[in-house]
Amino acid sequence: MEKIVSLSKRRGYVFQSSEVYGGLNGCWDYGPLGVELLRNIKEQWWQTMTSREDIEGIDASILMHPRVWEASGHVANFTDPMVDCKECKARFRADQIEDAMCGNPAYKGRKASKCQHEGKFTEARQFNLMFKTFIGPTEDNASVVYLRPETAQGIYVNFLNVQAASRQKLPFGIAQIGKAFRNEINTKNFLFRTREFEQMEMQFFVKPGTDEEWFRYWKAERLAWFIGLGIDKDKLQYHQHEPDKLAHYAKDAFDIEYLFPFGWGEIEGIHNRTDFDLSRHEEFSGKSMKYFDEEAKERYTPYIIETSAGASRSFMAFLVNAYREEEAPTADGKTETRVVLGLHAKLAPIKAAVFPLVNRDGMPELARNILQGLRPHLRVFYDDSGAVGRRYRRQDEAGTPYCITVDSQTLQDNTVTVRERDSMQQTRVGADALPEYLRKKINAA
Ligand code: GAP
Repeated sequence: MEKIVSLSKRRGYVFQSSEVYGGLNGCWDYGPLGVELLRNIKEQWWQTMTSREDIEGIDASILMHPRVWEASGHVANFTDPMVDCKECKARFRADQIEDAMCGNPAYKGRKASKCQHEGKFTEARQFNLMFKTFIGPTEDNASVVYLRPETAQGIYVNFLNVQAASRQKLPFGIAQIGKAFRNEINTKNFLFRTREFEQMEMQFFVKPGTDEEWFRYWKAERLAWFIGLGIDKDKLQYHQHEPDKLAHYAKDAFDIEYLFPFGWGEIEGIHNRTDFDLSRHEEFSGKSMKYFDEEAKERYTPYIIETSAGASRSFMAFLVNAYREEEAPTADGKTETRVVLGLHAKLAPIKAAVFPLVNRDGMPELARNILQGLRPHLRVFYDDSGAVGRRYRRQDEAGTPYCITVDSQTLQDNTVTVRERDSMQQTRVGADALPEYLRKKINAA
């Protein structure tokens, strides 16, 4: 993890939020490469979902009517048990003491469970994870609103609006990508548990009785999505929630877990939420949330199959999965260790880098022309500093799948070399054919 965090900063993937002020716990900023990777992940997800005939998209507001969170159960149930250490004042999630370390620098390396056994902890009390704020100028109970802790509720309360506007028939889904906020007691493991993060949620509305079939369908689809974008199969697994661990809304739930350097961690949840959410919104709003089935001529409350992925957690899984160090030959016949971010070409922030082999003989001008020709099609980068071997290594580390070099042969026949990041193989390609050549390669990846 240390290597990933350090590469993230060095290459401009992720920075600590408000770093010059000492940072803000549980918040991170995406740098120039990070923002591209995050956007590419979201774009792939959005395309996968909304290119289907049976899925519509929305973008609901972050602030919602406070009754939404009463109906959803978040006001009453969205809590974690919290304990304080009376000695060092550190705060822990009572159900995660086993993994936690003592907060006292004098006891460096000591497990928090040791302090617990020595009776240093307070009784556990429930702590609500929703961030509260006020709407309008008065800061009283009547004006309390919450920063949404999940994007799902914005979809549920819009279910009938979307259905009527799009004239979709069941089964159909609504997809949304957006920020969510949780005042986590302990943030940890880089982007894994943060206080501000992004979710990619798709809620699929189905006729009761067909829910189990659709649950199995989405469970398989979502795992296949991660594998299709390059995550190693053997680093993914399902984790089914035990009946006594199911969330208050769920009839069945599976997590898709990724094997991070610190162990298995959930990156997406697939839940059979039954008719819980729509029934609760009907009860709390007093407005019908039922669907009229034209074919069956009956009115009922749909069941919901939820696929809920963390964009930021997926980002971290893609980054960790892509990182490798390997021995590679150098120009003088020796070997050296190269760091490679083997990101899937569709996710890579920069698709191609263009280099003049040397900064003379008209090569920089030709390379700049090629760069300008590619810019409307792909995100490209120009680099003319240092030996070409070093430039390749820099792009390997940034995850760039293709490097294009203008050399002396280019001056004669207008061909360039295209070097592939993973195999390091070079192919000569006509400069005019580059946009099409690269587009095909990226789409076939
Ligand atoms: N609507 C259902 C829901 O929100 P969840 O399991 O609490 O379910 C879904 O969250 C996904 O959101 C998780 O699988 C994870 O990827 C992401 N997520 C949840 N809490 C997070 C946090 N504190 N930091 C980063 N990502 C988080």
